[in-house]
Amino acid sequence: MTIIVTGGAGFIGGNFVHYMLEKYSNYRIICLDALTYAGNLETLQDVMENPNFRFIKGDIADRALVYSLFEEEKPDIIVNFAAESHVDRSIENPEIFLRSNVIGTSVLLDACRKYGIKRYHQVSTDEVYGDLPLDRTDLFFTEETPIHTSSPYSASKAAADLLVQAYGRTYHLPITISRCSNNYGPYHFPEKLIPLMIANCLNDKPLPVYGKGENVRDWLYVEDHCRAIDMIIHKGEVGEVYNIGGHNERTNLQVVKTIIQALGKSESLITYVTDRPGHDMRYAIDPTKIKNDLGWEPQVLFDEGIQKTIQWYLDHKTWWENIINGEYQTYYEKMYANR
Ligand code: NAD
Ligand code: TYD
Repeated sequence: MTIIVTGGAGFIGGNFVHYMLEKYSNYRIICLDALTYAGNLETLQDVMENPNFRFIKGDIADRALVYSLFEEEKPDIIVNFAAESHVDRSIENPEIFLRSNVIGTSVLLDACRKYGIKRYHQVSTDEVYGDLPLDRTDLFFTEETPIHTSSPYSASKAAADLLVQAYGRTYHLPITISRCSNNYGPYHFPEKLIPLMIANCLNDKPLPVYGKGENVRDWLYVEDHCRAIDMIIHKGEVGEVYNIGGHNERTNLQVVKTIIQALGKSESLITYVTDRPGHDMRYAIDPTKIKNDLGWEPQVLFDEGIQKTIQWYLDHKTWWENIINGEYQTYYEKMYANR
């Protein structure tokens, strides 16, 4: 079995590469990644010498490159993680999100049509459903919830999902889509809430909480996400969408306070800053379908996962310090200086 994993030098894709190489000693895993600011070869350092692994630096929107890779490797499965993934960056500069997330997806789909494929899997997000009100804790996203996006990021991911479904119906491409809630865990780029707060806490820097910190996210430990995708590509039904997540909801303030407590710091580090425009209030997944159809359930609950994650950041300081000491400083200054 040959699997092309796009975006495998990023957070979730990197975890997926490790997961698959460890689980399937007879699979060939090929990572195609453009190494944008979010891609990091240090994440793949441990597997670079593995004979079942190959890394290719390249853009999924580069048609000639993608086609030649398909010709050479004749992949059985594509798992597309490659995307611009940060909502705040999409608010600053939407266009790059269209190129990578929409055009990139269309090029991969065309390659699958041209060369044939056993499965194309699109890694999507629960953000395509928009948000839920804070005072309706009885409501959850199901696979039937209408697409209703808020940010340029989520709009680009929704556009990609619609294209994937269109290729499934029109060209009978064997596609599946997963829509997952917020992930956390090892190799998470420190522009996102949890690693940013851990890094700032460890450096005794202010912890910038948007608005009142009351927005709710449904947190999933990244390995649970990898296991769900593994199940979907092997056992999932062609043409189906699967929501992934489940009942690990926390307000941002709860998350930040948990990190402060675990690191023995003071809550006086919390700094309330101007809210994100269009900020989604609450995400919450109903995972009934993936549970009933594929037997998937999250194995790591938030209270355990957050401690494991904090420990990983303590044990891998070089990994994230190399990031925050680089171009990230300019980003941080731009996003937070006058907030
Ligand atoms: P990330 O930003 O950490 O990694 C993205 C990776 O894709 C990087 O390695 C980057 O170099 C690569 N990439 C970007 N544009 C590319 C292009 N045009 N060609 C090739 N490679 C390119 O993102 P992540 O958090 O790991 O998210 C991975 C996927 O999962 C995304 O599609 C995202 O929408 C989705 N997702 C993320 C979350 C989350 O909580 N992080 C939740 C649900 C879904
Ligand atoms: P983020 O990690 O960017 O993920 P997403 O927007 O895709 O859910 O943000 C998670 C939540 O944390 C979101 O409600 C915005 C909030 N947030 C802050 O309060 N401060 C920050 O510095 C960041 C990056 C996010």
